Amino acid sequence: MCRAFTWLTILLTLALTSTASAGTSHDPKGVHLSFGASDTTMVVTWTTRKETETNVRYGPSDPGGATPADLSINAIGDARKFVDYGSTSSVRYVHVATLEGLTPGQIYEYQVGDAKLDRWSKVFWFNAKRTAEQYAEGPPLRIIALCDIGFKESDSVVELLTQEVHGEQPPDAFVQCGDFAYDLDDENGGVGDQFMKAMEPIAAYVPWMTSAGNHEASHNFTHYRERFTMPDRSKTDNHYYSIDVGPVHIVAYNTEALFWPASFGVEYIQRMYEWMEADLASVDRMRTPWVVVHGHRPIFCEAADGTSCAFNENAAFLQSGKDARDGVGHALRFPIEDLFYKYGVDLAFYGHEHEYWRTFPVYDEKVVNGTDVSLNRYFEPRGTVHVTTGAGGNINMDRGDDPPSRGTCDMIKDNSPWCAFQSGVDHGGDRSQEFAYGVVTFESGSKMTWEHFSALDDGKRIDLWSIETSSHGPFARRTYSDNLSDAALIATE
Ligand SMILES: [Fe+2]
Repeated sequence: MCRAFTWLTILLTLALTSTASAGTSHDPKGVHLSFGASDTTMVVTWTTRKETETNVRYGPSDPGGATPADLSINAIGDARKFVDYGSTSSVRYVHVATLEGLTPGQIYEYQVGDAKLDRWSKVFWFNAKRTAEQYAEGPPLRIIALCDIGFKESDSVVELLTQEVHGEQPPDAFVQCGDFAYDLDDENGGVGDQFMKAMEPIAAYVPWMTSAGNHEASHNFTHYRERFTMPDRSKTDNHYYSIDVGPVHIVAYNTEALFWPASFGVEYIQRMYEWMEADLASVDRMRTPWVVVHGHRPIFCEAADGTSCAFNENAAFLQSGKDARDGVGHALRFPIEDLFYKYGVDLAFYGHEHEYWRTFPVYDEKVVNGTDVSLNRYFEPRGTVHVTTGAGGNINMDRGDDPPSRGTCDMIKDNSPWCAFQSGVDHGGDRSQEFAYGVVTFESGSKMTWEHFSALDDGKRIDLWSIETSSHGPFARRTYSDNLSDAALIATE
């Protein structure tokens, strides 16, 4: 039986066997997954409007997908009462349950609900995290990378992502680096509820790993902190953490800490910075050769579209620690880009700007290419590649009448030398429009590929590039397969 047919069979079966009852306050809403603390766990989070039990029943899926799974394994979780700070003080119960003892690579089906009331969600499925050996044997690890996703504005992108998740090779994770729903707390949290429901066809099936953006800032990021369950949530409020997935160590960090002094003081940044350095220093590159970092605001900014870019430039300097700007000078003590270089972060991605663009390998605003400087192949890079993938569908974007401006960055007036390719920035450096998402594939310990797909072109691939490296670890200490001297590494002064 081909895999596509298998998935179709499972979906039809699940639809027919769903015991969901629609429209009551006891019903689970916004069901979504996240990776647990260990490789054999998966965390499920959902909300109800009335107080209910926190139960999950689950079981391994039938290999052929022809019959429903026996959902005979039970997990009991906890619920916390979340009172919104809006005018209606609306109440939600956030339920969190951890599914343990999972068999790596096994497809499971599950329902969430209240066993006493016998009220359950529809049946969802997920693929348990595979072992490193399973990823190596294939199919390779694939991660969706996309930030800045609105509620209605992102319909076309969400539709494409849903097709990815329910397609022949579902992605292993979905990483969203900030700006959810525009905004989660709007209309007393009603916009957040609708958004979480709209994301369920994706996030109830694939772990949704997140970091926070400026649109989550209201009341000290309350809705973001309450609605998600990232690793170490009890210590870091979903703001910074790391996970290992196959050959990749993924670090999430809180770029907003630099901009919201009322929410995050200098001691907070100090703690996060020290954690980040210790975390990056501890990575076993034999086990997880790739290191990827995500957060909301880019370190490097190409677009010159008014206040947003000015803000980002500020963020770039603050994060790089290379310049002093008004107001938030204490952040200069924490040069995060230096950590990327020191510990050899291969890839960093962000949103906030509602375009797509990528850099050449860069450090300290200088291009540090490897032995191959071609546009689409970064061979033996000497620095981190930065990607802005913020075109999920911002509330201020519209499709317009013209196709997005797309191509190499030298088509942009006053472009930066480290900018390689973009979509959604016009020739003058202003935004045009783009609705697109990235898929990162880690094909081996030495090659990763980024593909970008646009909803404006019916899901057509608009960019394809790769990092290929024979060495991982701190950039200054990597050994390469060429004989360039250190003096020759700086391609652009
Ligand atoms: Fe933002």
